[in-house]
Amino acid sequence: MTTLERLKNQAQIAMKKAYAPYSKFYVGAALIDENNSIHLGCNVENSAYPEGLCAEAGAISNMILSGGKSIKKILIVSSGDLMVTPCGGCRQKIKEFSDENTQILIDHNNEVTQFNMNDLLPHSFDKTHLPK
Ligand code: THU
Repeated sequence: MTTLERLKNQAQIAMKKAYAPYSKFYVGAALIDENNSIHLGCNVENSAYPEGLCAEAGAISNMILSGGKSIKKILIVSSGDLMVTPCGGCRQKIKEFSDENTQILIDHNNEVTQFNMNDLLPHSFDKTHLPK
């Protein structure tokens, strides 16, 4: 099985675990880190709506907890009819652990579209802007 197939399968598994009783919009994310470990996330909503978590944030949290430091590829799949790219907040979160080679892969109807960080978040803020 290729890495892409693994990420697609794992993201589907994650999406099925999403807790999204309010939006009924189910999202799964699977990322592969620099150690070739895969980490998963799903969206987790809350009755206090702003407290919900996105799938991408969960996958990043799992990567950090496991000792991973950077994202080689992250694949996102969602339940809606349209192709969904990461929300603004998740773009910034992904960027923190990305470089110019990081692939952001969107699986829609089993077709994968590839973006890089600059496609999704041009002119962005990062640690280079902070004082030394
Ligand atoms: N959602 C994600 O998990 N990732 C995104 O990038 C976009 C939105 C979730 C949040 C919420 O649970 C649901 O999708 C509807 O916004």
